[in-house]
Amino acid sequence: MSSPKRILLIIGGGIAAYKCLELIRRLKERGHHVRAIMTEAAHQFVTPLSVGALTNERVLTDLFNLDEEREIGHIRLARDSDLIVVAPATADLIARMAGGHADNLATAVLLASDKPVLVAPAMNPAMWLKPATKRNVIQLKADGIRFVGPAIGEMAERGEAGPGRLVEVPELIEAIERIFEPGGQRDHVLAGRHVVVTSGPTHEPIDPVRYLANRSSGKQGFELAAAARELGARVTLITGPVSLPEPQGVDIVRIKTAAEMLEAVRAALPADVAVFAAAVADWRVDSPQTEKIKKAEGKSAPTLALTENTDILKTIAHEGALRPRLVIGFAAETQDVVAYAKKKLKSKRADWIIANDVSPSSGVMGGENNTVHLITASGVDSWPEMSKAKVARKIMERAAGELLAKRTAAE
Ligand code: CTP
Repeated sequence: MSSPKRILLIIGGGIAAYKCLELIRRLKERGHHVRAIMTEAAHQFVTPLSVGALTNERVLTDLFNLDEEREIGHIRLARDSDLIVVAPATADLIARMAGGHADNLATAVLLASDKPVLVAPAMNPAMWLKPATKRNVIQLKADGIRFVGPAIGEMAERGEAGPGRLVEVPELIEAIERIFEPGGQRDHVLAGRHVVVTSGPTHEPIDPVRYLANRSSGKQGFELAAAARELGARVTLITGPVSLPEPQGVDIVRIKTAAEMLEAVRAALPADVAVFAAAVADWRVDSPQTEKIKKAEGKSAPTLALTENTDILKTIAHEGALRPRLVIGFAAETQDVVAYAKKKLKSKRADWIIANDVSPSSGVMGGENNTVHLITASGVDSWPEMSKAKVARKIMERAAGELLAKRTAAE
C-alpha cells in the first residue's frame, strides 16, 4: 500500500457513476485524501450529497461558481493533487480531453493539470469501438494519459455486451496504487513519442493463390508495439499477414508485400523510433501471374525468376530529414550471430541491431521466448533468455533512455 496521497476524482455522467461511491470509500480506507468534481451529467446518476458525505469535502461542479473559485481556484485544484482519476469517463468527456477543451470545471482542471491522469472509460461498446473514440484514446495515450479498462461484459442496456464497462473497484484501486509505486511515474517514458514497428512475414505473390513467405509469427513485433504503447508512445504497427490478437491502442497497418511495407513505413513517418522486426522476404517473383498457374501433362514445372526486394531498414536509415532518431534492426541468423549482426549494423546504418539465433533448434520462430544480443556502435550486450514480451519491454525502455540522452546531448 502506498503512502497517503491527494486524489482528485472526476466523476463523469454514466450509469457506472455509482461505483465511485465504493471507490471513494476504499481510497479513504487506504488513507488517501479524496476530492471530487462531478460533471453536470454525473448529477443524473449520483448526488453531490452522497459523494460529499464520503469524501468529507465539498463537491465541486461549476467552473463559474465564484464561491468555489474563491475557496480553491481551478488551477490550484489541478496542481494540488498527486493524481487525477476520471471515472467513469464517458466518450464525450474523453473527446473533450483529447481536444483540449476547458469549458467546464472538469475539463479546465484536466487541461491545467501537470499531474498524472488515470482514465477509466465507461460507455456503450458501439461508442468505444467507433473510430472517433479510438482516435481520441490513441491521442490521449500519446499525451501520457493512462487508461484502465474498459472491461468487457454485459451493458446496462439489455442484450448489449462488449468492451465498455467501467472496471470493478479493486482493479481501479490496483491501477491507482501502481502509479504510486516506486517507478510507477516512470511508466510513460515514451509519452509524446511516435514509434513505428514493422512485424511479421511478407507474402510475395507467385500467382493469385500462391506466394513466397517465411516462418515469422510476428510475435516479437506485436510485443514491441504493445510495449511501446504501454510506455505511452503513439505506435504504428505495420504488419504482414499474421494471426495474432491486436494490441490495444495501436494503429495497425496491414500489408502483404515488402513493397507495400516500405510504402506504409514511409507514410507513417516522421517517427522518433523505428523498429524493423519484420522478416521481410528477400526476394519477390519477377512477374507474378495474374491467373493461377496450371499444371498440364507434359509441361515442366515452372521456374521462378526472382528479384531482390528493397531493403526497408536500409532505405529508411538512409533517409535525410525523415530518418527516425533511433533506427533499430533485427538480425535473424542461424550461425555466427554476433559477427553477422555487426556487419548489418554498419551496412544498413542502423543505430542498434537486435541479433537472435533463429535456427530451428532455438525454437525462436513462433516460440514465446527469445535470446538476443543488443549490438550498438559501442559494443555487444548479451541478454539471457526471456519472454518476447520482456525483450520488447527492455528494448523500448532502453530506446526511451537513448532518446532522452540524445535530446540532452543536443541541448
Ligand atoms: N530488412 C528490411 N527489408 C528487407 C530485408 C530486411 O527491412 N528487404 C530488415 C529486417 O526487418 C531486419 C534486418 O533488415 O531488421 C535484417 O534482416 P535479416 O533478414 O536478418 O537480414 P537480411 O538483410 O535479409 O540479410 P540475410 O537474409 O542475408 O541475413
